[in-house]
Amino acid sequence: MCGITGYIGYRDAYPIVINGLKRLEYRGYDSAGIMMYDGDVMHLSKTKGKVSDLEVITNKEEIRKEGRIGIGHTRWATHGVPNDTNSHPHFSQSGNLVIVHNGIIENYDTIKKELISRGYEFQSDTDTEVLVNLIEEVKKTEGCKLGKAVQLALTQVIGAYAIAVFDKSKPNELVVARLGSPIAIGVGNENKEFFVASDASPFIEYTKNAIYLEDGELAIIKKDKGIKVRKIDNDKLVDANIQELQLSLEQIEKGGYDHFMLKEIYEQPKAIIDTYRGRMLPDEGIIKMAGVDDNISKFLNADRIIIVACGTSWHAGLVGEYLFEDMARIPVEVEYASEFRYRNPIITEKDVVIAISQSGETADTLAAIKLAKSKGAFVFGVCNVVGSSIARETHAGAYTHAGPEIGVASTKAFTTQITVLSLIALKLAKKRGTLSQTAFQQYLQTMQLIPNQVEQLLKIDKQVEEIAAVYKDAKNCLYLGRGFNFPVALEGALKLKEISYIHAEGYPAAEMKHGPIALIDENMPVFVIATKRGHYEKVVSNIQEIKSRSGKIIAIVTEGDETVKEIADHTIEIPETEEALTPLLTTIPLQLLSYHIAVMLGKNVDQPRNLAKSVTVE
Ligand code: M6R
Repeated sequence: MCGITGYIGYRDAYPIVINGLKRLEYRGYDSAGIMMYDGDVMHLSKTKGKVSDLEVITNKEEIRKEGRIGIGHTRWATHGVPNDTNSHPHFSQSGNLVIVHNGIIENYDTIKKELISRGYEFQSDTDTEVLVNLIEEVKKTEGCKLGKAVQLALTQVIGAYAIAVFDKSKPNELVVARLGSPIAIGVGNENKEFFVASDASPFIEYTKNAIYLEDGELAIIKKDKGIKVRKIDNDKLVDANIQELQLSLEQIEKGGYDHFMLKEIYEQPKAIIDTYRGRMLPDEGIIKMAGVDDNISKFLNADRIIIVACGTSWHAGLVGEYLFEDMARIPVEVEYASEFRYRNPIITEKDVVIAISQSGETADTLAAIKLAKSKGAFVFGVCNVVGSSIARETHAGAYTHAGPEIGVASTKAFTTQITVLSLIALKLAKKRGTLSQTAFQQYLQTMQLIPNQVEQLLKIDKQVEEIAAVYKDAKNCLYLGRGFNFPVALEGALKLKEISYIHAEGYPAAEMKHGPIALIDENMPVFVIATKRGHYEKVVSNIQEIKSRSGKIIAIVTEGDETVKEIADHTIEIPETEEALTPLLTTIPLQLLSYHIAVMLGKNVDQPRNLAKSVTVE
C-alpha cells in the first residue's frame, strides 16, 4: 500500500510528482505529501486527505512548486492515524534527509528506542520517520555517503519497504531501494532525467524505458550520470535490466466514464478476448499456454492443486476449484493466502500451487508462494500486472492480460482470472482424457461467444440501475448461488460491501436453511443466481423458502426462464452458455448493481474508505 513518486532531471518536478501521485492514489488515499527541492531549500507540503487536498495547499504556496527534484507520497496508514504529521515525506532530525516509504518496518520500536537514547526526537508516530533517522545516524557514525548509509541502515531493519531518499548535501542524487514493495525507475532522455514510482503509470508519457528493482536491491540514481544498482546484503553490483513498457496513457485514463470501475466493467468483453487470444485455438482444437505446456508433467502428475489468493482473486480460485475438479478431475484446495502461510500446511513436491493475484504484489499471497516453494511445490502464477513480484517469484505462470485495473473494486480482473483458469482446466482435461474431444471443442466454441454475451449483458445496465434504486437503502443483503455460482454470490456480496458499505453476505443457496434464513423478512433483499443447469430445481425451492418469509428476491436467471420470473420480485436474464462458464456472465449484473448503488449513495466508488488496490502489508 502507499504510492511513492519521484523525479530528478531538467524538467519542473512538481507536475510530474503530483500527477504521478494521482495515478498512484489507488494504492492509498488517506493522506498525501510532496517535497520539492529548489536548489537551496527543501519545501514540504503534506496533509491528511487526498492528492486533490494537497493540490489546494500547493496552489496557495506557489513557491513550493519550484524545483527539478521532487518526491511524493500517497498514504494508506499503517503506523499512526492519518493526519498531517504522520503524512509523508518525513525529514530526518537534522532536516538534511527526506524520505518517502511504502511498507512496514516491523522492528521500528526497538530502533526508535535506541535512537531516542542517542538524542533523537520524533514528531510523528510512523515507522518511516524512524527509518530516515536511522539512515541519518548511520551516515553520521560511519561517515559514509547517502547510498552506503541507506544500505547499512536497511540491513538493520526487519519488514518491507520501497523507499526514495534525498539528501540536501547530494542534490544530484536520489537513492531508492526495495524489499517486498514494488519500485520502478523510469530512465529518461539520455540519462539526463529519472523517474521513480511504485508502478510505471506516473512516467508513462515521459519514457517507455523502465527498470524494476528486485527485492533486496538498492539503486543510486545520479542526474547526468546514470544508475548503479546493488544488492543490499552483499554490496554486489547488479546489471540493471531496462525493459520496454507496454503500458499506454489511454489505458490508465477514464476515457469518458465517470469512474474507473465502470470503465473496467465495460472493458470486460475486450479483456476476456485479450486473455484467450493466441491461447484458445478452436480451429486447431487446442489450447496453447506456454507456462502450462512447458511444465505439463508437473500438472499431470500432481496429487492435487492448491490455489492461494486473497479477496476477489480467492473467489476466482473457488470457481477454479469447481472447474478443475469437474473438467480435469484433479483434487483442488482453495486457501486464503493469509491463513495458508501461517498454519504449517502439508505441502509436498507433488503439489501444484496456483497463486492468483491481480496486482501481483499482495503480501500474503507472496508469502504463501515462498512457503510453497520452500517445501518443493511447483508454483504457477495467474497475475494481471506484468513483471509484478508474484509474476517473478513463481516458477511459471499465465498473465490475464486484462489491462490496468485502477478501481479498487476488482471487476475485469475477476472475469479474466476465471478465463485463464477455465483454459487451464480445459487443457488439463483434454490431456488427462477426462473430457472428450467433442466436449472440449464444444467448450471452446462456447467460450468464444462469451465476449459478445457480456456485451449484450452490459446493455441491461439501465434495468440494473432501476433495481439498484429500489434496494439502495437496504442495510443488509444476502447473495445466494450454488455450484459454479456459489463463488459468484460471494463476489457479489464483496462488491456491494466494499464500495457501498452495505452489509452483505454470500452463501451457498442450500446453506440458507442452516442459519441465515433467520435473517429473512420483508426488509431483506436476496440476490439469487438461478441458472438453468445449476441445480435449478433446488435453487427454485430455496427461492420459494425466501418468498414464504417475505424476503425480496432479485434473481439472475437464464434467458427464457418463466418459473423464477413468477416468484421473484425482479429477474435479470443472462444468455445461455455452458454451466461452467456462467460465472463469466452472472457476475456482470452484480458488478453493475454494486456500482449503481454506491453511486446513488454518493460513495467514492473508485477509492472506497479504508481500502487500497494492492495490499502489500500483512
Ligand atoms: O491484487 P490481488 O488480486 O492479489 O488483490 C487481492 C485482494 O486484495 C483484492 O481482490 C480485493 O479483495 C479487491 N478490493 C476486491 O474488489
